[in-house]
Amino acid sequence: MKLLEERIRRDGQVLEGNVLKVDNFLNHQVDPDLMFAMGEEFAQSFRGNGITKVLTVESSGIAPALLTGLQLHVPVIFARKHKSLTLVNDLYTATVYSYTKKVSNEISISKKFLGADDKVLIIDDFLANGQAVAGLIQVCEQAHAEIKGVGIAIEKTFQRGHELIKEKGIRLESLAQIAAFENGQVVFVDDKEQ
Ligand code: G4P
Ligand code: NA
Ligand code: NA
Repeated sequence: MKLLEERIRRDGQVLEGNVLKVDNFLNHQVDPDLMFAMGEEFAQSFRGNGITKVLTVESSGIAPALLTGLQLHVPVIFARKHKSLTLVNDLYTATVYSYTKKVSNEISISKKFLGADDKVLIIDDFLANGQAVAGLIQVCEQAHAEIKGVGIAIEKTFQRGHELIKEKGIRLESLAQIAAFENGQVVFVDDKEQ
């Protein structure tokens, strides 16, 4: 998606440890027009798949997920990282280990929002090692829900997440694919293909 790539070039900052800081439009301050355009792309890709729910994890996945749900006209569920006061029995849960932050988080969603009749589109802001998406996949499996695909705003193709999703035979659509960071600059997969 050209618009997103341009925005990453303009406002993204490459930090130590292969991390791209995008707090100007996605991870802290959020650009609603860009989110709308991203939602449109995801909705276009997955329209016709009978999606009944969009699923993400708080907090940064919520904006793109919401704008996708808006355009598919289906509810958006965000897995929580902190337990609500609901009884644990009423929750699907998965453990998500972050290689970046070196912490494990338990993510959970209420059983009442996901079930065997659901066809799910998983959306997230970043795909790095794929642990957040893996946790969301586990939650869908517990619910016996069908996963129709994964939509990612920014994918770092050199980390393990891409393979992890493809190995499971799940469709993956990423709006911006980063092949590498070189001398503090972003190299997109698109650049290499030209
Ligand atoms: P993974 O889910 O793909 O395994 O990612 P990882 O554990 O490596 O990353 C942990 C957190 O850092 C995730 O956010 C993920 O979205 C984010 N992240 C990974 N790579 C980058 C990057 O290059 N740039 C930015 N800005 N974020 C990155 P999170 O902990 O779930 O936080 P949030 O959703 O509340 O923001
Ligand atoms: Na995220
Ligand atoms: Na994040």
